[in-house]
Amino acid sequence: MSVTVRVPAKVNVQLAVAAPRPDGFHDLANVFLAVGLYDEVTVTPAEELRVTCEGPDADQVPLDRTNLAARAALALAERYGREADVHIHIAKDIPVAGGMAGGSADGAGALVACDALWGTGASRAELLDICAELGSDVPFSLVGGAALGVGRGELLTPLEVGGDFHWVFATAVRGLSTPAVYREFDRLTEGTAVPEPVASPELLGALAKGDVAALAASVSNDLQPAALSLFPELTATLDAGRAAGALAALVSGSGPTTAFLAEGPEAAAGIAARLAASGTCRSVRTAVGPAPGATVIDAGTGAGGRN
Ligand code: C5P
Repeated sequence: MSVTVRVPAKVNVQLAVAAPRPDGFHDLANVFLAVGLYDEVTVTPAEELRVTCEGPDADQVPLDRTNLAARAALALAERYGREADVHIHIAKDIPVAGGMAGGSADGAGALVACDALWGTGASRAELLDICAELGSDVPFSLVGGAALGVGRGELLTPLEVGGDFHWVFATAVRGLSTPAVYREFDRLTEGTAVPEPVASPELLGALAKGDVAALAASVSNDLQPAALSLFPELTATLDAGRAAGALAALVSGSGPTTAFLAEGPEAAAGIAARLAASGTCRSVRTAVGPAPGATVIDAGTGAGGRN
């Protein structure tokens, strides 16, 4: 018996960030959009907890208990008084350390997979609670679609989306550490009055209508100046995407992946080709959002059970 769960990446179409709280986290108005780039997490009963990973960036993925997938299995096992005796295999397609919630996706995927494998019967609310303990972005990886996240991003309200949005993503030659980007945000905003984060009504309206031009006019990311300060070369990538016809260009979350909104699928393919030829990024992907959250795609039996 093994269970495979497919989990999407995300882009933040709005990321409004407050001044740091006493616990060091930042309150957010975080508008998440799940996009169709996926990791697949397979869990199989084993003697003891073990994580393996395949994919182009597999060598950058930690296989110890710092991996959110391992932590998810341990958290669920502890809650249900059992051993986390599974082999977790991650087929990784989401860029690593890229600001697209790849690690969070693996946490949500492993949680849903272990829940199905062990038949715990945990409620959705319980699973979301565990996700929030694992990290600020993990609950969204579970629910997918589009959502407004407040608090540190873990308190979600689902959002209506009236159409598909076509994106191009450019990965960078190195990663950025999320805590380092938030620290740089604190440094850059020190001594200034940081406004309370509020979701943009124009942006929510654009999502609801499926209006790509209105979405392009209203995307924003308060972490972008911090990401660019730590990784100035990203400015050239953003410029190359704009020159290639992107309707909007922004850093995805804490970066360094950059995200480009396209008019439609053909425009996305054209922007992707020009970005790839620009020499300003490591690799280029296209993806459509919204995409569904963590979904069991196979609960087959035996080693050959995967499709
Ligand atoms: O919640 P998560 O473990 O993903 O957060 C990683 C780091 O990002 C935190 O340790 C913190 O430095 C920063 N962070 C923050 N405010 C948030 C979310 C994350 O300062 N709302």
